[in-house]
Amino acid sequence: MIGTGQRGRNMAIRTKLVAGNWKMNGLRQDGAMLAHTLKEYAAAAAPGTPGCEVLVCPPATLLSEVGGVLVGSGIALGGQDCHAAPKGAYTGDISAEMLADLGCSYVILGHSERRQHHGETDTAIRDKIAAAWRAGLAAILCVGETQEQRQAGKAVEIVSSQLDGSIPHAASAATLVIAYEPVWAIGTGLTATTEDISEMHAEIRRRAPAGIRILYGGSVNPRNCPAILTLSEVDGALVGGASLNANDFWTIVSSYAAK
Ligand code: 13P
Repeated sequence: MIGTGQRGRNMAIRTKLVAGNWKMNGLRQDGAMLAHTLKEYAAAAAPGTPGCEVLVCPPATLLSEVGGVLVGSGIALGGQDCHAAPKGAYTGDISAEMLADLGCSYVILGHSERRQHHGETDTAIRDKIAAAWRAGLAAILCVGETQEQRQAGKAVEIVSSQLDGSIPHAASAATLVIAYEPVWAIGTGLTATTEDISEMHAEIRRRAPAGIRILYGGSVNPRNCPAILTLSEVDGALVGGASLNANDFWTIVSSYAAK
């Protein structure tokens, strides 16, 4: 697991990051099996590979189990959301401190599924990012436009306003990662064109802290990852469905093996 300090020192070269977002999938046995297989792949990888940081973000119920399996694997653990408060009367919620306590080093925040199904606003997401930092976690901030917004020519405008509204002033490349996930590409098998990805990532880079890592997410799979992950503005992937299959996920991770 790469600590914040090491991430900070590596920022000049923007260490690639491939993260699996398991979403609300897996019972304990499934999670443990997937984690065991990933640990075996990591152990079998040639020295110096996979050439990127690897992160899995299981549902909260599996963090303890998966974290236990992954000890010593070099694969980092992350949460999928956190509350802004450190503790208190918030039934059903989980604090950033609780994630850190379970061994997490990252937390995904502002995922479009949270924005859509839980009404999360940019302001609420900014507070959650601050909470992540308070607990020593790096935040992965998700941004992205809907199909209608892209068709209306508003994709860059929407993403820019999400960034402006949700990135706290103190953000740095060591504590924040941005994931560009077009909403229409999530779970649909559709991906943005490499031109659109490059354009959006360049725009995000213009607005974000220097040296920040920008991931692409939305139907990334073993077939389309070579074209996406080699784009100069893409620093890795946030993978949903394909991260539930150890072989597919490791194939994506291994895109960086030769780098
Ligand atoms: P899919 O890879 O299943 O499209 O999900 C992407 C995603 O939402 C990752 O956060």
